[in-house]
Amino acid sequence: MQNFPKPIRLLAPLVALIATVVVVSGCGTTQPDIARGRVLFTSKCGVCHALAQAGTTATIGPDLDDAFAAAREAGGFDAATIEGIVEAQVDDPRPSNGNPAASMPAKIVEGQDLNDIAAYVGKYAGVPGAAPPEVEGGPGAQVFANNGCGGCHTLAVANAGGTTGPDLDEVLPGQSEAEIEESIVDPNAKIAQGYPANVMPENFKETIQPEEIKELVEFLAENAGKKSGG
Ligand code: HEC
Ligand code: HEC
Repeated sequence: MQNFPKPIRLLAPLVALIATVVVVSGCGTTQPDIARGRVLFTSKCGVCHALAQAGTTATIGPDLDDAFAAAREAGGFDAATIEGIVEAQVDDPRPSNGNPAASMPAKIVEGQDLNDIAAYVGKYAGVPGAAPPEVEGGPGAQVFANNGCGGCHTLAVANAGGTTGPDLDEVLPGQSEAEIEESIVDPNAKIAQGYPANVMPENFKETIQPEEIKELVEFLAENAGKKSGG
C-alpha cells in the first residue's frame, strides 16, 4: 500500500469501511430460515403455545392454529400478514385480560431469530391438516424429529447431520438410559467435553411430554451408533 499514490491511500480506509458496512447489513437482510424458525419456536414459544406443525401442545397462551385459522380461511390473512402480527406481538405483547401473570413476556427473541420464528408461524399457523413431518423409525424417532434435535446433533438412523452438539452416534453407545435422559432434561448437569454450556435448550422437560421423553431415550439407547437404514 505504501507505493500507491496519495489519493488512493486516502481512499483505502473508506473502501474498507464500506466493505464492513456491506457485510454487517448483509446479516439483516438474510432470508428467513423456516426450519430454524421451527426449532426456535419449539423451545422459545412452545412452552406456552400449541401449534400443530411444531407438535407443541401447551395451553398457557392461545392455541396459535385457532388464533389464525378463521382469518386464514376467510382469505384475509396470508403468511406475510400473520408474520407481521407475530413480530408485533413478540416485540410488544398485548397484556392478557387484566391478568399480568398470564401475559406474554416482551422480546423473548429479536433480530434474525424473530424473523425466522415469524416466517415459520406465518407459513403454518391455522393451515388445515398441518402436522410435524412424519418420519420412519417409530415414536421416539418422531420425537427426535419434532424437537429439532437433528439440527444440532448427528444421528445416522435419523438422517441427522447437525454439528453444534456432540455426534450422538459417537458419544451415546455405552451410556445408560438414565444418563441419556439427564442430558436431555438437564443439559447443564454435565457439559459434554469440548462443547459450550447453555446452547442445548434447557426446557425440553417442559416442552416434551414425559411419555415422549421415555420414547426418545429408548430410541437413542437402541439406535445411536447404528448405520442409517440399519
Ligand atoms: C410464558 C408464556 C408465553 C411464551 C413463552 C410466549 N407466549 Fe405468546 N402469548 C402468551 C399469552 C398468555 C398470550 C395471550 C395474551 C397476550 O396477548 O399477551 C400470547 C399471545 C400470543 C399471540 C397472539 C395470539 C392471538 O390470539 O392473537 C401470538 C401471535 C403469540 N403469543 C406468539 C408467540 C411467539 C411467536 C412466541 C415465541 C417467540 C411466544 N408467543 C411466546 C404467552 C406466551
Ligand atoms: C441448539 C442446539 C441443540 C439442540 C436443539 C439440542 N442439543 Fe443436545 N446438545 C447440544 C450441545 C451444545 C451439547 C453439549 C453441551 C452439553 O452437554 O450441554 C448437547 C448435549 C447433548 C447430549 C449429551 C451428549 C454427551 O456427550 O453425552 C445429549 C444426549 C443430547 N444433547 C441430546 C439431545 C436431544 C435428544 C435433543 C432434542 C430433544 C437435543 N439434544 C437438542 C446442543 C443441542
